[in-house]
Amino acid sequence: MSLAIIGGTGLNTLAGLEVLASHAVDTPYGQPSMAIEEGVYGGRKLLFLHRHGGRAQPIPPHLVNYRANIWALRELGAERILAANAVGAINAGMVPGKLVVPHQLIDYTWGREHSFDDGSSGELLHVDFTHPYDGELRDEILGAALAVGLPHVATAVLGVVQGPRLESAAEVRRFANDGCDLLGMTGMPEAALARELAIPYAAVCMVVNAAAGVSEKPISMDDIRQTLLQETALFGALLKAFLEQ
Ligand code: HPA
Repeated sequence: MSLAIIGGTGLNTLAGLEVLASHAVDTPYGQPSMAIEEGVYGGRKLLFLHRHGGRAQPIPPHLVNYRANIWALRELGAERILAANAVGAINAGMVPGKLVVPHQLIDYTWGREHSFDDGSSGELLHVDFTHPYDGELRDEILGAALAVGLPHVATAVLGVVQGPRLESAAEVRRFANDGCDLLGMTGMPEAALARELAIPYAAVCMVVNAAAGVSEKPISMDDIRQTLLQETALFGALLKAFLEQ
């Protein structure tokens, strides 16, 4: 079983996934967000996990058990992880209708269980995170987007914020000064945990709003939900193209 999809806000289910089995996995770090679905999508087998959980009450970004999620996916044989993130955009070139494949990130999260290293391994582990996303997986995603003519942006810096609240306008100016193009709440520690387990990981970002203060228009959850419908359809099209390559 090679590919695992981690769905974010709006991707509670993978529309069109023919579920063959549902795996309730226990890990040394506790329970993942939900029982992980194994199924067929676009003619290929894959694993699907919704990071906010398959329950009525969604798990907020700061309370997701990222360690259990990544560990459980590895237990089930995930060899690559493609993660979807709903994000706000700072960069004016990144708008709904264009999927964004970030190449870099800045981690602003705090207080999350962010490593499998509990000091018991007997050695100091400093994983290389120069390039947080897997280059080959990114190339394949971008190749698929090009092959089917899906509007996309091929590089971006994702700032990962703690949430669950949105940012102040001044915070967004600071993140822009730092070089962030996008802001999301769930990209970390997920990417780093995948790296610790040496699982190639890449992300596809769905822009659902302009970041705070970037646009005159107030950010509304209703608008975000509406935009997500269109963005998740684009993500599905990209995933099909990716699997058909
Ligand atoms: N900021 C941070 N995370 C987000 C946003 C945002 O504006 N929109 C969706 N996730």
